[in-house]
Amino acid sequence: MEKRRNTFSNSLGFVLSAAASAVGLGNIWRFPYLAARDGGGLFLVIYLLLALTFGFTLLTAEIAIGRKTRQSPLTAYEKLNKKAKPLGVMACIIPAMILPYYCAIGGWVIRYFLAYLTGKGAAAAQDGYFSNFISDVPQPILMCTVFLFLTMVIVLKGVDKGIERFSKVVMPMLVILVLVIAVFSLTLSHTGDDNVVRTGMEGFKILVLPDLTGVDLKTFVSTLIDAMGQLFYSLSIAMGILIAYGSYMQDDTDLVSCVGQIEIFDTGIAFLAGVMVIPAVYVFLGREGMGASGPGLMFVTLPKVFLQMGGIGNLLGCLFFAMVLFAAITSSVSILEAIVSSFMDGFKMERKKAVLLVSAIAFVVGLLVCLGYNKLYFEYTLPNGAVGQILDIMDYVSNNLMMPIVSIGTCILVGWILGPGYVTDEAMKNGEKFGRKGLFVVMIKYVAPVMLLILLLKAVGL
Ligand code: ALA
Repeated sequence: MEKRRNTFSNSLGFVLSAAASAVGLGNIWRFPYLAARDGGGLFLVIYLLLALTFGFTLLTAEIAIGRKTRQSPLTAYEKLNKKAKPLGVMACIIPAMILPYYCAIGGWVIRYFLAYLTGKGAAAAQDGYFSNFISDVPQPILMCTVFLFLTMVIVLKGVDKGIERFSKVVMPMLVILVLVIAVFSLTLSHTGDDNVVRTGMEGFKILVLPDLTGVDLKTFVSTLIDAMGQLFYSLSIAMGILIAYGSYMQDDTDLVSCVGQIEIFDTGIAFLAGVMVIPAVYVFLGREGMGASGPGLMFVTLPKVFLQMGGIGNLLGCLFFAMVLFAAITSSVSILEAIVSSFMDGFKMERKKAVLLVSAIAFVVGLLVCLGYNKLYFEYTLPNGAVGQILDIMDYVSNNLMMPIVSIGTCILVGWILGPGYVTDEAMKNGEKFGRKGLFVVMIKYVAPVMLLILLLKAVGL
């Protein structure tokens, strides 16, 4: 165990590291697609309201628990209440389930980045490129290993010298790249095979203007649930990360103001990701091209869009995948750190030993995830009707089932057993202002647990 617990050097270091954790694959491949599918501006408004209420409540609670207990996710809950130990165990298992598949996807991103870097963007846009790549055995494993290795090297260096330093370099670059690509996307214009001229600004309108056609209570509720699930993933809530990062936050850092900055950062980048992706896809592939989500959007649709752009497409593809790689690595670093901190606190391990052990386990599971698309291929229908492989099952179990359970537990623990004062006192211990204190209390006791329960019931198909 470390003699003195590592800390972030200051408030900026904490905010950038937490924002770096939040901004990840979730922002780039899930947010734009959900926004386009769920009525554009309507989704944006709901998402924003949820971020300011629901997201803020859970962010504040988890960071405060971490800072007050100075413990990892595995050990923090039992310090609060002996009976809450299983919550800690789950909060440690969740990132352990996410890390291997996050690395597998990170490996796919490296593959595409290298393809564009070496001028092979046109090949990457061909039908079958993506499926051929993931069904190949050695390549995805190699790329996944490289991604995991990069993550490991950063976490090995510790909190301030590794995670914080890396985030401080990468986050400004990421913001610049996102801005450049978003502005470029807005200026696009193209005449389709149907002789219709489509512009980036029209695509932007699809993203931001509320489309209320056909919206009834049922679609509204489903938009709400989509937005809530997205928020969860995007803000790194219930992944153990915020508790671990909170435990490294200095006592004189203004927790409330940091939460506000993380919300703005994460939501801002998600919105800009929408501005990058939606107008570009609309201009070159029309409304019908906007149906793809997840891997389909990022690894199949977008390369086709870059191809349509002509000469500049290869450069833009290269910048885009560099940006995605930055976002993914800073998130996987935080996922690994959540597990490593748990091993360090729970099993009294040294950082180096914990990092190597956790990475070795992640490597073996990551291997299985990669083999899920070839040697171990099978099809499994999930409770929500989607058909998936090993990656999808791990994603579903961690995100849709375990994360809401941990968060419901957190709400009950803070709202009803310890009392909201446990968190609000911690947040205001240096005399800081807590503008949304009343809202926090109502959310943690009543609104958030009910919303989470609905999310959970929906996930199990009820
Ligand atoms: N919050 C991270 C993401 O959005 C995990 O990918």
